[in-house]
Amino acid sequence: MKITPLLLATLLATPASLQAAPSARERVRFDDGWKFHLQDPSLGEPPSSAIAGVPIERWRWKMSENSSAEALEAVRPELDESTWSMVQDAHSVIGRENSFAWFRATLPQSSADMPILHFESVDDNATVYLNGQKLMQHTGWDSPFDVPLGGAWKAQGPNVLAVLVENVGGAGGIGATFLQSGAPLPPPPPAVSGPASANFSDAAWRGVHLPHDFIIEGRFDAQSDASHGFLPKGAGWYRKSFVLPRADKGKALWLEFDGVYRDSIVWLNGRQLGRHRSGYTSFYYDISQAARYGGLNMLAVFADARQNEGWWYEGGGIYRHVYLTKLAPLHLAHWGTSVVAAPSSDFKSAQIALNIAVENTGLAVPCTLDMAILDPSGQQVAALREGTVAAPGEHSPQLRSLSLANPRLWSPDAPNLYTLRTTLRQKGRIVDETSTTFGIRSLRWDANLGFFLNGKPFKIQGTCNHQDFAGIGVALPDRVSYYKVQRLKEMGCNALRFSHHPMAPELLDACDRLGMVVMDENRKLGDSPEILGQVQSMVRRDRNHPSIIMWSMCNEEGMQGTQQGGQMFAAMRNTVLQWDNTRPVTAAMNGGIGTGISLVEDLQGFNYNPGGYDDFHRKFPNQPVYGSETASETTTRGIYAADKAKGYASTYSGTHQYSWEPIARRPWVAGGFVWTGFDYRGEPSPYQWPDVNSHFGIMDTCGFPKDSYYYYRAWWGTQPVAHILPHWNWAGREGQPIQVWVHGNAARYELLLNGASLGSKEMPRYSHLEWSVPYAPGTLEARGFNSLGQQIVSDKVETTGAPARLQIVPDRTQLLSDSEDVVMVRCAVLDAQNRVVPTADNAVTFAVSGSAYVAGVGNGDPSDHEPDKASQRHAFNGHCLAVVQSNGRTGAVVLTATSPGLRSATISLSAVSR
Ligand code: GAL
Repeated sequence: MKITPLLLATLLATPASLQAAPSARERVRFDDGWKFHLQDPSLGEPPSSAIAGVPIERWRWKMSENSSAEALEAVRPELDESTWSMVQDAHSVIGRENSFAWFRATLPQSSADMPILHFESVDDNATVYLNGQKLMQHTGWDSPFDVPLGGAWKAQGPNVLAVLVENVGGAGGIGATFLQSGAPLPPPPPAVSGPASANFSDAAWRGVHLPHDFIIEGRFDAQSDASHGFLPKGAGWYRKSFVLPRADKGKALWLEFDGVYRDSIVWLNGRQLGRHRSGYTSFYYDISQAARYGGLNMLAVFADARQNEGWWYEGGGIYRHVYLTKLAPLHLAHWGTSVVAAPSSDFKSAQIALNIAVENTGLAVPCTLDMAILDPSGQQVAALREGTVAAPGEHSPQLRSLSLANPRLWSPDAPNLYTLRTTLRQKGRIVDETSTTFGIRSLRWDANLGFFLNGKPFKIQGTCNHQDFAGIGVALPDRVSYYKVQRLKEMGCNALRFSHHPMAPELLDACDRLGMVVMDENRKLGDSPEILGQVQSMVRRDRNHPSIIMWSMCNEEGMQGTQQGGQMFAAMRNTVLQWDNTRPVTAAMNGGIGTGISLVEDLQGFNYNPGGYDDFHRKFPNQPVYGSETASETTTRGIYAADKAKGYASTYSGTHQYSWEPIARRPWVAGGFVWTGFDYRGEPSPYQWPDVNSHFGIMDTCGFPKDSYYYYRAWWGTQPVAHILPHWNWAGREGQPIQVWVHGNAARYELLLNGASLGSKEMPRYSHLEWSVPYAPGTLEARGFNSLGQQIVSDKVETTGAPARLQIVPDRTQLLSDSEDVVMVRCAVLDAQNRVVPTADNAVTFAVSGSAYVAGVGNGDPSDHEPDKASQRHAFNGHCLAVVQSNGRTGAVVLTATSPGLRSATISLSAVSR
């Protein structure tokens, strides 16, 4: 049903009542007071998470060379399959890409009238036969599907199943498969047992504050999954009790989860609210039916992180915020507001299109909707009022339009944010009110000229990043998102690719507020209702963020270059367009470029292969191009010789320059995203164990810069740069040649050892300089000159003495006393002359008194097996980090860092209320 506008839209002056009126919406963070326990057999499996049916566990299989010629024989029930291989877990047995394999299994007896086969997944495509009869074809590598066995089923058996599996990319095979009765499911039992039930005692469980990642609390184990950083996987239970007053009866009550990794099931008072598989999308339940009013409510969440969604560290648990939102029956719909703000071509005015959906869980009521636009300084600059009648149910968004003069545009350099304040009134009383921040900016993609932001060429100087951080895994306090964006901006980075899934909303807030454009990404390719639902959830939640400049549907999918892949992508793109048609839809492709998805997407993303840019551009002159993933250089901070046994990669690598130069020199390539800005847990290329994290970062897991950071500072930034590598502590190598590199953007550099010139060299654009210098202790200096011969910048490395003292530097001296805010404390090991000792590995202990505690530690060492959840850490090449978190109280915080034999360091912080 539609809302009927009763009054004409009118521009209003700021009514005082609008500013002072209290909001009826109550939204509280639900992060406090949770109890947690790791899943163990004594707790039983959660009710109803197990899939009904008899599992099919014994398969025989063989590769197929010519599937159509073999089909008749391979599906024949009587076939002698004894030469086929036996396998219990058929999930990833096909190793060859673009291949076919046959699988057979004899199904168990079933007395069901209408048996069904339920496949959790067939990777990538399946053709299913029973007793020689073809029943179904299914495409898509990881979506569940059902095959009714119908007339092909023999009640007396045997029933021989044959599945032809097409593997397009990666590994392939058949996931968990069950024979189900097909009869309608019995109604769910009224009560559940175990932790899901209301009367279970969690007295012995420990208390946790969200966000929480239980995987990061584990201990490294060489037998665990390398891709996930060798930390054991598991599942966990969370419980929380809370009281709802009687007065809440009749309200809509949303329990909102920003993200749970993964496959979560939520119960309230023993009643299952729902199951949400994706570990990356946000979701909510209306709990008003299951809630108890005027009494205690018991919430239980099971998070099952035993399965992967990706090939990097994914963590586990309720690792993002939870909210409880209480609303009047008439309210603004969940993710129901869209603001599209477009400047005019001369940027002198802007058109603001508002789409606002209202939901009414009560009876039809007349109401008014006020929409006020506040400028970046909080002044109201436009307003619109409409009278409507809200019938019961959710109403489609209604389009309204406003125009503004002299808009202050949003860009990374000037991240101006406007606010839409939407106020819903019933009989003059406010029943709901929300604030939506947005930015006014224009995006233009030109296949020949690149990307334009607000009419000006904008080269994407981006990095891809996973979400984890040192000390805390994936459970990021909001502040950490800001910290990461700040570190990237300091390097000259202006764009962030969310690899490979939607991130916490606070990261988008940080990008909006600090100024960073974003490639928002859906986890995977597919056109199943579940995957299209994930796309919808991402776009509806995120569409008002001005930082987002494109939607990516997937990364490096096996089917990317196929016609089916293209069809799936087209379905995803259509889903995006239903909710946002202002940004291009793209994918990160590493193969099949020019086919499949390429033919239906708006922008061509290249993962690597810069050699392919020109050819594509020639063949597809109207398709804009960008590097969705570049470089993948593996280096370890402060390491200048590879050491496989220790798991260290050498810094002498030119990958960054070979990736950036082809982009920088082609104006029509819109830019690129380096893999990655920060090292991340998991994917420990190239060495595996003992490494537990990746080496791809331009910064390490703590945000300490590696040398390549200065390559980007030089060619992405605007300030003169000089940076020498390596360090100058090479005792024992006197007289031997040391390879010296200088990063920078000055016209020419001179290198001096202990004051004596070693000559000067022109700096080639997008490159670096190299010298071979016989080692002598002392000072090595690089001086950078402009084209007029004036010195504009310099850098030096000095041979230091032995470690003598610690230094600790907080990124802020105040934190909020909200049990969540953090201060990042960087610790350096200095010599007696206050110089960082670049090889120091002293053990540092952090002690905090007052209103904070050490939430975690890190040092950027990719093969360090010390726990992150601790108060002590060895320095790695001179540095380590402590994440100091508020404990909920206001007052002073004193942090001391000590190390045997070194002078300790102390700083004071203060925890304040908001
Ligand atoms: C890419 C992939 C990334 C990461 C990277 C490592 O192909 O998209 O997720 O695995 O390789 O080099």
